[in-house]
Amino acid sequence: MTAVLFTCAGQRVDIVGAFHRAGATTVAADANPLAPALYHADEHALVPRIDDPDYVPALRALVEQHDVRLIVPLTDLDQVTLARSRDELGAVVLLPEAEIVERLGDKYLAHLLFEERGIASPPTWLPNGVPDDATFPLLVKARHGFGSRHIYRAADGAQLGFFLGYTPVDSIVQVCLGGEEFSIDVFCDLEGRCLNAIPRTMIESKGGESIKGMTIRDERLIELARDVAEKLELVGPANIQCFRETDGAHFLTDINTRFGGGFPLPLAAGGRYPELALALARGEHPEPRLGDFREGIVMTRFFSDLSLTPNGDGTLKPLAPAE
Ligand SMILES: Nc1ncnc2c1ncn2[C@@H]1O[C@H](COP(=O)(O)OP(=O)(O)O)[C@@H](O)[C@H]1O
Ligand SMILES: [Mg+2]
Repeated sequence: MTAVLFTCAGQRVDIVGAFHRAGATTVAADANPLAPALYHADEHALVPRIDDPDYVPALRALVEQHDVRLIVPLTDLDQVTLARSRDELGAVVLLPEAEIVERLGDKYLAHLLFEERGIASPPTWLPNGVPDDATFPLLVKARHGFGSRHIYRAADGAQLGFFLGYTPVDSIVQVCLGGEEFSIDVFCDLEGRCLNAIPRTMIESKGGESIKGMTIRDERLIELARDVAEKLELVGPANIQCFRETDGAHFLTDINTRFGGGFPLPLAAGGRYPELALALARGEHPEPRLGDFREGIVMTRFFSDLSLTPNGDGTLKPLAPAE
């Protein structure tokens, strides 16, 4: 059995469970004892907060204790820390190079990175660099944003000025696209080769998370995602978001270098990403299987819950399910 450590496990019960079913021994870590995914793992541990100097040593200790072969971050929060400390951690870290992780986490640097590598993304500026002839509507977007927070649509120059003053966070200004938005879940090997790309529609999103969507066999999106993933040398899972304009052109808006909120959908469609991750952890070299998934699979997500009871030693354990 290959042991996998999930960091910032949070609510990602779906991912921890899928790796368990794929044959992994799952170890979940979080700073919060009420993170539900902790109690769905084979082993779990409470760790210091990410900004604590003991964070990486605590993960390293878990790697040794459980003979962990693979580390999979489940949020954006500790990715830069993990990518920078990969040599100290003692297991394969399922992330691209630290520089790529850092740049993708900053929407301005990400835009420059896309331009540098020949990937189309909407025109984007820092607040003081917006040209006079920029076409409205424009979006004021959080530079280090996530979950669709702090995004404001400005219809004209007066609104742009207002929103730039109003937003509480460091922001960029970006052309607001009018086409359809798609999301593609890719999985790449440790050398940055794209093994699969599964596009989906965004039927409904809430708080930035896709809650309803359908897999589609769109060859242009599959090829776009493969090209983007390989140009950026992505490693492991990533969620690539783009818009298709009415003339058919695609523009990239966001990449998350982790399993997306829509993880259940590529899983249900047969992507077998947990199995691919375990193969990489074992040093295998799985062949690309682009397009190997079922189209027309529809996901509809819902809330779930877990009841816990004191364990007697200050920790909590799941309450036995009622008959
Ligand atoms: N340039 C854009 N034009 C139109 N809509 C956009 C644009 N950028 C972002 N959005 C919308 O805002 C949502 C969140 O933006 P995104 O760049 O993905 O940031 P994050 O997910 O990190 O909050 C997107 O899913 C999309 O619906
Ligand atoms: Mg996004």
